[in-house]
This record gives sequence, structure tokens and C-alpha cells, in this order.
Amino acid sequence: MSIQTVETKPYDDQKPGTSGLRKKVPHFQQPNYAENFIQATFDAADSPAGATLVIGGDGRFFNREVVGKAIRMAAANGFGRVVVGQDGLLSTPAASNLIRKRQAAGGIILSASHNPGGPDGDFGIKFNVSNGGPAPEGVTERIYARTRSITQYRISDAPAPDLSKVGLSRIEDMEVEVVDPVSDYAQLMEELFDFDAIRAAIAGGLTLRFDAMHAITGPYAREILEGRLGAPVGTVVNGIPLEDFGGGHPDPNVVWAAPLVDHLMSANAPDFGAASDGDGDRNMILGRGIVVTPSDSLAILAANAHLAKGYTRGIAGIARSMPTSQAADRVAAAMKIGIYETPTGWKFFGNLLDSGKVTICGEESSGTGSDHVREKDGVWAVLLWLNILAVRKQGVAEIVQDHWSRFGRNYYQRHDYEEVDKPAAEGLMESLRDRLASMAGQRFGTLVVSEADDFSYKDPVDGSLSTGQGVRIIFSGGSRIVYRLSGTGTKGATLRVYLERFEASPDRHDLPVEEALKELIETADAIGEIRKRTGRTEPDVRT
Ligand code: G1P
Ligand code: ZN
Repeated sequence: MSIQTVETKPYDDQKPGTSGLRKKVPHFQQPNYAENFIQATFDAADSPAGATLVIGGDGRFFNREVVGKAIRMAAANGFGRVVVGQDGLLSTPAASNLIRKRQAAGGIILSASHNPGGPDGDFGIKFNVSNGGPAPEGVTERIYARTRSITQYRISDAPAPDLSKVGLSRIEDMEVEVVDPVSDYAQLMEELFDFDAIRAAIAGGLTLRFDAMHAITGPYAREILEGRLGAPVGTVVNGIPLEDFGGGHPDPNVVWAAPLVDHLMSANAPDFGAASDGDGDRNMILGRGIVVTPSDSLAILAANAHLAKGYTRGIAGIARSMPTSQAADRVAAAMKIGIYETPTGWKFFGNLLDSGKVTICGEESSGTGSDHVREKDGVWAVLLWLNILAVRKQGVAEIVQDHWSRFGRNYYQRHDYEEVDKPAAEGLMESLRDRLASMAGQRFGTLVVSEADDFSYKDPVDGSLSTGQGVRIIFSGGSRIVYRLSGTGTKGATLRVYLERFEASPDRHDLPVEEALKELIETADAIGEIRKRTGRTEPDVRT
């Protein structure tokens, strides 16, 4: 077997988005499309000879083929070892953990996260660096530049190794180590959380349901919840990963996880419910009769993390993406710890976590995590919640109410307008930006604009500047509307509008969210001209 150099031509659309390169499967199936991107990644990463690379994905359609190609290309690009999940599977947080634990130079994670899979579904390739986190912008820009000039890639002509069994094999001079995707991750969770306390709570009657949505977390949740924590078999539903996620969107929100939500709202609801997404980095948290918004969940986890053994010394600080509600800011202020507001995307948390400035991070898009890895982590969030429930011996709704009465409630909703005509969506953002300077002082009903800007972020660790990260309209009193275009969509443009209003008084903590946000929702249309410019009267999804 030998190393081949294959001639290729650049594709001009391989710019990584919020989270790697995402396209429809048929797009990825074009000749050399995946190979070009992987070679560009290897070239840009410039790992030392003999380095270790982690490879795995969420098991969606096309995962197996690309894992095989990536291994054969790694062997031809000077890597000394690849660590790959059995059957090519690894959840995103488990891949992050393996990169760190094995001191790998990086990892290739194959996923399109919460987007649908299957022959006409989405696929994605993402590169993570040696801290276990998504490649920072400098690296993704180098990858993109390389994709524009690539003329050849290197690949071994050896057959792709058998990934069905755990163990060692060789391809060219490179060792291929197939690992159980769950065990190292489960061990890390045992180090962070009080499994005895959670086990005792479950034995004592705490009931739960975890919906794996036919995605990657099925095996993880079954091993940890049913295996190690003693929850009854059947606690994990939709636990078998499928290439097309059973035809659904593996996105844990009230729309796509509706059966779980219905169950938690029903008469025979368990005490706790949760779901995760395609690649296992997102989470949805529910209690009997309540869906906890991700922004509230972040704030509650931060305020209670010290109850879990991995965080007894307290947390150093909290980071949240800009559109995430400011509930966490109130916790940080009370705890006298740092709070950081970053652009959307987990990659912006990496430096803050590496430098010890923050311990817990979160995004409104169902992402929460800590410094245990450098990705958001769905199962981690579930276990931290369970740990808190076990220690506080209270229900989810009680803990949420208690949190609001201590810190106030940040009413919050995100409205998504999907597959909007791209020029129309770009025109809407453009027009907002043009009007920013004249916005302050304008009145909309009872709302008066105090500040309006296009968010930019200077990384406090490496000084890098990220501009154009979303338009913020802030009103006196702290209410906010944020507009931005998605960086992960694969069709047209997705306009996201984020609405937030703070309410201090416990007497007004039980309003229906849409009622609490009514004026802001109307104002968002008035300022953004959403109807006029997109022709949409309603968002496709409200989360
Ligand atoms: C979305 C979320 C963002 C998250 C990303 C990857 O990105 O909004 O918070 O980090 O998916 O999971 P967007 O499509 O908004 O660019
Ligand atoms: Zn994901």
C-alpha cells in the first residue's frame, strides 16, 4: 500500500461557518469535496510529524465514508496515530475530551449538529485544535484560504480500517486506535458529579426521561443514566443512533422535541426530562410542567454548580454569547465573579476557558458547558441538573421559581425566520446598520432606545477583534432586541431575532412569555421591517 497524491481543483464555497463547513450531503458527495476540505485543514493546522489526531462523528449518513477517508488521509499526512470512535462514532464533547486526554494535535468531527441527516440531509466537517475546542477564526481563515488554492491532496490507497472492533491496527506508518466512544467520557462525568447522590435520588423515587432523538447521545445516556446511575431501562427513549435520525430534526427544542415536551406536561410526567441534539453538545431541560429556557438554565447551573463535586471550589466566571439572556449576568454580579459577553459560537469561549477566566459558558441555543472540555456538552448539563436536584431535594419548577425570586426573571424568546430570501435578509441587516447612529432616543410605545450598535468583540486574551456580530437595540430598563443572520444554515438565510425583558417583581414572574414580550415583538417588526422585507408574518420557530 502506498501514499497517493491526487490532483484536484479548488471549490470556492468551503468557508467554515459558525461551526465548521456545513452543506447538504449531495454537495459533499461531489468529487474530492470532502478530501479538499480535509487536506486544507491538515495544511492549515500544520501539526508536528507523528502527532495524534482524533476522528469521529455523530453517525449521520455519509459519516462512515468520510471517517474512512479522513483516516487514510491522516496516514498520508504524517500523523503518527489516529484515535477513532468505534464505528466512527463520537459525540462532540467526547471528541473534545479525547483530544485533551490524548494530547492530540486536534480532531476532525463530522457532524451537522442539530440539522437533519440522510441522503438529502446535511453533513459537516469541523476541525478542533489541541485544547479540544473548535478552531479559532485565525485557523478557519487559513483553512478557507487553502481551499481556494488547493491543487492536490494526499491519501493512502490502503482500504479504510475496520472500525467495528475496539483495538489497534496500522495503516502506512500510522497507528489506528479504535476506542469505545463512551468509556473515557463516562469516567470524566464520574469525576465531576456525585453519582452516589444521584443514584440515591433515583432509587428514592426521582423519575426521569431522556430523549436521545435517535442521535449520538443514545449510547452515552444509556450507559450513564441506566447503567451507572440505576435509572430504569426505558428511561432513555429514541436511544439508537440512526443515519437519518429517524427522519426527524435532532434539535432539542419545543418544536422538534414536542413528544418529550408533551410527556413532561402530561398527568403522568416524570420529575425531570431532557434531550440532546445530533452530535450531543446541546441540551434541553424540563421539569414536570415546565420547560427551562437555556438562558435560565445557564444562570441556574452557574448559581448552583458548587453543589457538584467537580465545582465545590466555586466557579471563576461565566461567559455567554451576546444574544443569550442576561440572567447569568445577575448571578455573576451576586457572586462577584467575571461575566463575559462573546459573539455567537462556542469557539469564542476557548480562550476564556483556557486562561481560567471562566468556568461555565452558555448560549441561548441550548448549549451549556464548562472547562471540563472545550465544547458545549448536553449530557454534562443533564448530569449537573440531576446533581443539583439530588442535593437540593426540590423539583425543577421549584428551583426555577426560587431562582427568579432571588435574581429576577429575564423573559426571553428567540424567533427564527428560516429559508428567507438571502438578499432580502441581508438588506434587512444592512438597513438596520445604516440606522444605528440615529436610533438612540427613539420611542416605540413605552420603549425608548438607549443604545444601538453592531456587536463587536475584542478577545481579552489574544486581543483579536470580531466585528459585525449582530445588531443590538437596547432600551432603557434593559430590554433588548437582537438581530443576526445564522452562520449555520445551508439554504437561503435564517434571520434570528432575540427578545428579552427583565422583570424584578415576583408578582409578575408567571406571565405567559408572549404576553410579557408582546410590545418587544411588535417593536422588533417595526424596527426591523421584517414583514415588509421578508414577506413573513410569523417566525417559523420560537424557542
Ligand atoms: C447556531 C446557534 C449558536 C451555536 C451554533 C452551533 O448558530 O445560534 O449559538 O453556537 O448554532 O451549534 P447560528 O446558526 O445562529 O449561526
Ligand atoms: Zn450540536
